[in-house]
Amino acid sequence: MDLAKNRDVAASDTVPATAKDSAPEAVSGAERPTPLLDVRDVSVEFPTAGRDWVTSVQNVSFQLMPGESMALVGESGSGKTVTSLAVMGLTEATGGRLSSGSVTFDGNELTGRPAKEWRKVRGPGMGMIFQQPIRSLNPAYTVGDQIAESVRKHLGLSRRQAEAKSVEMLEMVQIPRAAERAKEYPHAFSGGMCQRVMIAMVMACNPRLLIADEPTTALDVTVQETILDLLRDVQQQTGVALLFISHDLAVVAEICQRVAVMYAGEVIESAPAVDLFFRPQHPYSSGLLASIPRPGLSVDRRLRTIPGGIPAPGTWPAGCRFAPRCEFAQSGRCDTTHPPLDVVSTGGLSRCLRADELALDGVVT
Ligand SMILES: Nc1ncnc2c1ncn2[C@@H]1O[C@H](COP(=O)(O)OP(=O)(O)OP(=O)(O)O)[C@@H](O)[C@H]1O
Ligand code: SF4
Ligand SMILES: [Mg+2]
Repeated sequence: MDLAKNRDVAASDTVPATAKDSAPEAVSGAERPTPLLDVRDVSVEFPTAGRDWVTSVQNVSFQLMPGESMALVGESGSGKTVTSLAVMGLTEATGGRLSSGSVTFDGNELTGRPAKEWRKVRGPGMGMIFQQPIRSLNPAYTVGDQIAESVRKHLGLSRRQAEAKSVEMLEMVQIPRAAERAKEYPHAFSGGMCQRVMIAMVMACNPRLLIADEPTTALDVTVQETILDLLRDVQQQTGVALLFISHDLAVVAEICQRVAVMYAGEVIESAPAVDLFFRPQHPYSSGLLASIPRPGLSVDRRLRTIPGGIPAPGTWPAGCRFAPRCEFAQSGRCDTTHPPLDVVSTGGLSRCLRADELALDGVVT
């Protein structure tokens, strides 16, 4: 885990991670720049057998500034992908519906707009890469043709310009012999190389926001590092903002300035990465940090896990959703009151009723 890479930026980061519960005017008195992405109170529902619609993600709010990198973190099923698909305007395509909230991109409200208007924003505005890049590539076309097709569609380039752009992009993602490899089919590429191709394809349209949903989870550890390095390089070269989705806080530490932690469909903590890692304000965040393997620690401090599992949508407890797993839960308080996402003493946001009473463990160095 290397927090040094983002420490300087994050330490000066006074922008609150979530809009809803922190008044913008309360922030440092400075004039507040317009966010690139403003997600407010987004709730998503899916139909289920026997029950009409069940909420999977509830009142999720966060903002992303131009060029910023922010992580959405949480266990499997916490709602990270559902949230990111809502940002991309793809909720209906996955069988769900937005039951509340709004997504504003570059000052334009996108919620409720027809599908063709969302399509105009995807590509040149925002692009997304996934855990299994091979599934996003068409096996019947060369990788060069697929990148060229994407830029022809979104940027209106000629065939020749699009071919040149596809080679240029493969070079940018450091694929050796890019001109030759552009003529090869996806099956000739390893998992890490396929992810490079996907990054090339998305970045070819010059998006302002890149959403990366577990982009390294399916890769070997050594390849993971090279993809993280590449994402950092791409961000530096292009100034693209990054919404990085992961269940792995150690990976997030490598690349993100800010972190929003999700649990059971809602954001439960949001803070600059350095604050969250060293002074977590929610027992769930602290538990996730304790489960990061760290060489050199005594056996009893290594790899603590959080007992129990995340409740499924439709079975969320009435009070704090983390209460059944929380070692600090207070009966009559935590099990009856659903905690709001409030500003805490560190300046971040926490959905823990006891945040200001507890001294939670962060990363042990
Ligand atoms: N198309 C769908 N229909 C019904 N329920 C869904 C659908 N997509 C997601 N869900 C439910 O929404 C909840 C959140 O899912 P989501 O995929 O966002 O989790 P995640 O945090 O991305 O998890 P993972 O780390 O496993 O990718 C889960 O309970 C999931 O079962
Ligand atoms: S509100 Fe209570 S149960 Fe929930 S995280 Fe805080 S201490 Fe734990
Ligand atoms: Mg997911």
